[in-house]
Amino acid sequence: MIIHNARLRGRDGLYRITLSGDQIAAIDAQTASATPAADDLDAAGNLVVPPFVEPHIHLDATLTAGEPAWNMSGTLFEGIERWAERKALVTHEDTKTRARKTIDMLVDHGIQHVRTHVDVTDPTLAALKAMLEVREETRHLIDLQIVAFPQEGIESYANGRALMEQAIELGADVVGGIPHFENTRDQGVSSIKFLMDLAERTGCLVDVHCDETDDPQSRFLEVLAEEARVRGMGARVTASHTTAMGSYDNAYCSKLFRLLKMSGISFISCPTESIHLQGRFDTYPKRRGLTRVAEIDRAGMNVCFGQDSIVDPWYPLGNGNILRILEAGLHICHMLGYEDLKRSLDLITDNSARALNLGERYGLEVGRPANLLILSAPDDYEMVRSQGHALVSVRHGKVLMRRTPAQIERA
Ligand code: FE2
Repeated sequence: MIIHNARLRGRDGLYRITLSGDQIAAIDAQTASATPAADDLDAAGNLVVPPFVEPHIHLDATLTAGEPAWNMSGTLFEGIERWAERKALVTHEDTKTRARKTIDMLVDHGIQHVRTHVDVTDPTLAALKAMLEVREETRHLIDLQIVAFPQEGIESYANGRALMEQAIELGADVVGGIPHFENTRDQGVSSIKFLMDLAERTGCLVDVHCDETDDPQSRFLEVLAEEARVRGMGARVTASHTTAMGSYDNAYCSKLFRLLKMSGISFISCPTESIHLQGRFDTYPKRRGLTRVAEIDRAGMNVCFGQDSIVDPWYPLGNGNILRILEAGLHICHMLGYEDLKRSLDLITDNSARALNLGERYGLEVGRPANLLILSAPDDYEMVRSQGHALVSVRHGKVLMRRTPAQIERA
């Protein structure tokens, strides 16, 4: 298969991309004489990019909002309470059915790489066992990383440490954590040491729900970053949310940034989720409740956007479209300056791939997997401005999804 008239990010002119089997075989300047074959694709001068990445979602909780009750306060903590009620009703098939439906929604929007957190604070690890099956059954659609996520804590949940170890033994790819939710500051710190030990011993990646609160005293990010720095594990470690950073004073944050840069860890922000859940204890002025995305990016550190939830106890909306999250995030994070807009797709492609450690399994380069998207616009700015879409998703050299743009008839 050949993709004709492809525009590539950061390069002038048009290109033809030749796929052979499940690899990219060649990327050449487009010549006018090319005659497209029947199974070739025409990008028509629009962007061709590697697949979108969903770096932070909870597939075990999606499509459960209102079951059995809605989150009326809109807070993170009521979300955890509502989820504890729904969790009691979770079955193996229920988890698999909802996850598969959600994966289809992600695929429809050009996503082929997903990192899902799965709640392992459950003595039966039912959701994890279901998601391990889903990971195998959906390999033709997505590459799925599973995080062993201790929703109700590692130290403050019965047998929390053993459940984490068991989850990794069963096949979870990433070690998670939630230090700000542990009962005490000491437990938060010891949970991070425990989870970093576990990751170091097993070679797993790390992705911690870290300081997901407006409390400016929630300072577990410094603990995570220092553990990553001392152990030389920064490239494998991600801090998700870090929303308390939006409430840290600048003097502390300035010191913190020095450590964060030395640590080499990545950051994931979920802007729609955080703008909804945080700021809930404020009247006015009301905080945005997000981490310092623009500042992290400008300091040369790696940051990307995720959806977090689709129709669950924490967030009632969502349709799988990561471009919606990008547009909202650029607004919320004060990133509508042209310099940010013209490279904005980094936040849902290359930066996310780096956080997920995809390495040579990702990117438009000869020899890499034949996974790519044809978008509906010629550059990053126009994709965001026009609320564009992924029109074609190619995976393993074959078309996985094709979207027909809406037609408008003027009178
Ligand atoms: Fe999350």
